[in-house]
Amino acid sequence: MTDRRVKTGIIGAGIWGSNHALALSTHPQCELSLICDLDGARAKALAERVGCGWTDNIDTLANSDVEAVTIATPDPFHREPTVAMFEAGKHVMCEKPLATTVADGLAMVAAAEKAGTKFMVDFHARWYPLFMGAKGYAERGELGDPVMAYARLSDTIYVPTKMLKWGGNSGPEWFLFPHTMDLVRWIFGREPVSVYAQGHRGVLDGMGINSWDTIQSMVTFEGGAFCTFETSWILPESFTNVVDNRLTVYGTKGGLELRNEPSLWVYTDRYHTPFASESITRYGKVAGGQYDSIRYFIDCVAEDITPEASGHDGLIATAMIEATLLSLAEKRPVTIAEIFERAAVQQ
Ligand SMILES: NC(=O)c1ccc[n+]([C@@H]2O[C@H](COP(=O)([O-])OP(=O)(O)OC[C@H]3O[C@@H](n4cnc5c(N)ncnc54)[C@H](O)[C@@H]3O)[C@@H](O)[C@H]2O)c1
Repeated sequence: MTDRRVKTGIIGAGIWGSNHALALSTHPQCELSLICDLDGARAKALAERVGCGWTDNIDTLANSDVEAVTIATPDPFHREPTVAMFEAGKHVMCEKPLATTVADGLAMVAAAEKAGTKFMVDFHARWYPLFMGAKGYAERGELGDPVMAYARLSDTIYVPTKMLKWGGNSGPEWFLFPHTMDLVRWIFGREPVSVYAQGHRGVLDGMGINSWDTIQSMVTFEGGAFCTFETSWILPESFTNVVDNRLTVYGTKGGLELRNEPSLWVYTDRYHTPFASESITRYGKVAGGQYDSIRYFIDCVAEDITPEASGHDGLIATAMIEATLLSLAEKRPVTIAEIFERAAVQQ
């Protein structure tokens, strides 16, 4: 480790931007310098918590001597701040999903290439120890060639109705599928070819939230392996955890299965298993894969490493989700190639 310190900024001081601040402010090679939010009060409150500057003007950040920026704006609003930061010559880590259209994602990746700086998408599931373990088994060939997988990532209805103010501008597909779709593509080591999806809507629409309730999307990968990705935003709040996450992978020689991470079971006036991102601070830093991915971005800048979980990875996950939505709309299988052809026309 060199003694280089990376002056860093954050755009978006909401729920996840606060986690960025916790991770960055406890990294020895990071100098968290400036937090930017359109809502100045939010930026100020978070900046005071971690002891850095704040602004409600993105140009102030662009014109500052900050060299790396992390983006945690709501799902549909990643393109503008990301492109602005690349135009200012910064290194960027953007929250998942990279974008909510492939056209936006292509523009972001092009801006990164023009800037020649580092670009990472925060697929933090890749930093959870059990998923890293699963990748290891696949990578060492212990599972053989990928055959089939099932990946569920759902939230209780708390998330679209009470946690997020912008659930109707996203959906379980944009909020949750990026994690599982990136993860299975990473574990399989294969590119997606085509997508067929079924979905249900009505519950959230009926509550004034413009969103799919639940979706199953079957993705076929190169070589014929396939995965059913399942997501729901209407899981009852009585579920013990805000998240329901399962993964099964079968290969020609073996398989593996993961059901949530081992959880802390808490019995107080209610029984629950806290969500992993309820931050655990010990030994002077916050603990958990969701913080390790953010710290890794600083490692990449400080040590001149090309980040894993790249803009390209973000683009492929975005294409898988866009194909899912087109399949739902037109009730037919959709190829990833078609999605990129359509995006090229839109640009
Ligand atoms: N909440 C989670 O559990 C979670 C987990 C992982 C990843 N994420 C991702 O993090 C991102 C942010 O989610 P969140 O839950 O923190 O949302 P949030 O609504 O809590 O916070 C978003 C913040 O961005 C600000 N903002 C919006 N547009 C802006 C702009 N152009 N410039 C500056 N500030 C702007 C808003 O004022 C708000 O404070 C999303 O992409 C989400 O998918 C969230």
